[in-house]
Parts: sequence; structure tokens; C-alpha cells
Amino acid sequence: MIIDLGTGDGSFVYQSARRYPDRFYIGIDAQSRALEKVSEKVHRKPAKGGAPNVLFIQAAAEDLPPELDGVADEVHAHFPWGSLLRALALGEEATLRNLRRVCAPGASLEVVIALDPERDRAEIERLGLSPLSLEFLETILIPRYWAAGFDIVEYGSLPPSEWPQLQTSWARRLRGATPRPLSFLIARAVGDAGDSTSLHISSPR
Ligand SMILES: C[S@@+](CC[C@H](N)C(=O)[O-])C[C@H]1O[C@@H](n2cnc3c(N)ncnc32)[C@H](O)[C@@H]1O
Repeated sequence: MIIDLGTGDGSFVYQSARRYPDRFYIGIDAQSRALEKVSEKVHRKPAKGGAPNVLFIQAAAEDLPPELDGVADEVHAHFPWGSLLRALALGEEATLRNLRRVCAPGASLEVVIALDPERDRAEIERLGLSPLSLEFLETILIPRYWAAGFDIVEYGSLPPSEWPQLQTSWARRLRGATPRPLSFLIARAVGDAGDSTSLHISSPR
């Protein structure tokens, strides 16, 4: 099962579900308004654009329903903002533990963040974010993710040419004329015990 957290208008979930009808997708967002259109669409017959392998849930990452415990083999968070961005970019343990709770052992957590130090300065300051440098990752993020049950196994930046592969509405919006720098990290859900694997840095991927 694949969870898209902060799914926005559900575009990634809908397109992926249509492409892979044998996989089940759950789109979760704290706001439901942007999901109205796609929620109507998924209930159509598959020949008319429906997707029976999709579920949308209105919930905050801080408060995920217990029914989701252990269901996810993959969790995606594309272009998070607000409290979700803060939790993922600062490694806030309480929210990360919530995400860990919905993961099956070995599940992957894939986070894609696009922040421009200049254009997004106000939001970066408001949320108290630190630059996603290698030093920050090694000294702060890896230990915090680990404490919440995630091993960060890959981290890097993507060149502008890879933006089109990200099939989300915000990827299209943020791509713009001057794309923002794009960072990603991939973590794996681990049990309470285990050896941390070595981090693979790719820049750009
Ligand atoms: C920039 S949009 C990205 C939407 C989508 N992933 C995309 O790439 O098009 C960020 C989304 O994160 C959601 N969000 C922010 N904080 C959240 C939280 N704590 N829990 C769940 N969703 C959250 C917002 O409601 C918004 O829809």
C-alpha cells in the first residue's frame, strides 16, 4: 500500500493508481477542499476514469488514524509545506513516530523538498528551518529520524531536468521559469533495534 502524505489535489495518487491498478493508494491531507474534484472522479467506472484502488483521507500527519497502523509499504511526501514541512525538514520526533506507525517494517519514506533560500526566506524563518546541508543531515536529521524508527539511506539533490518526472501539481507549479533547488531524502522504516546502514549521498541523482 502506498501513502501520499500532504497529497494536495491528489494528482500523484490518481495518476499512479490509474497506471498501476494492482496497487492501492491512500492520499492524505489536512485540508480536503482541493480533493473534492478527484474524489468524485475516482468513484466513476474505471473505463470513465475511475480508480477503485484509491482512498482519500482528511487527516493531519500529527494525528493519523490508528486504522492505518502498519499498512504502508511506501510513504511519499512531495513538496510539503507548513507543519508537515517543519516536521520532515527538522526531524520532529512526534510526527515522525506517527509516520513510522503507519509503515510496515522496511517501508520506504520518500521526501521531496523544494526550497529557495531567497524566494522562500519568510517561510523558512517562520518555520525555523535549517539549510538541508550534509552537516545538518549527519548531525541532526539522521539521529532524529533514527530515534523515530527511520534510517535515512539516501539523500541528494535533483537537477532541474528531473522535475518533469515528478507527477504532482506542485511540481508543475514550482518548476516555473527558474526552478527551485530540489532536495530529496529516502528513509527506511526500521524496528527499535537494528544497525544503521551507511548513507548514500547522490548529488544530483
Ligand atoms: C505544497 S502542497 C503539495 C501538494 C502535493 N503533494 C503536490 O506535490 O502537488 C502541501 C500540502 O501539504 C498539506 N499539509 C501541510 N501540513 C500538513 C500536515 N501537518 N498534515 C497533512 N497535510 C499537511 C497541505 O494541506 C498541502 O496540501
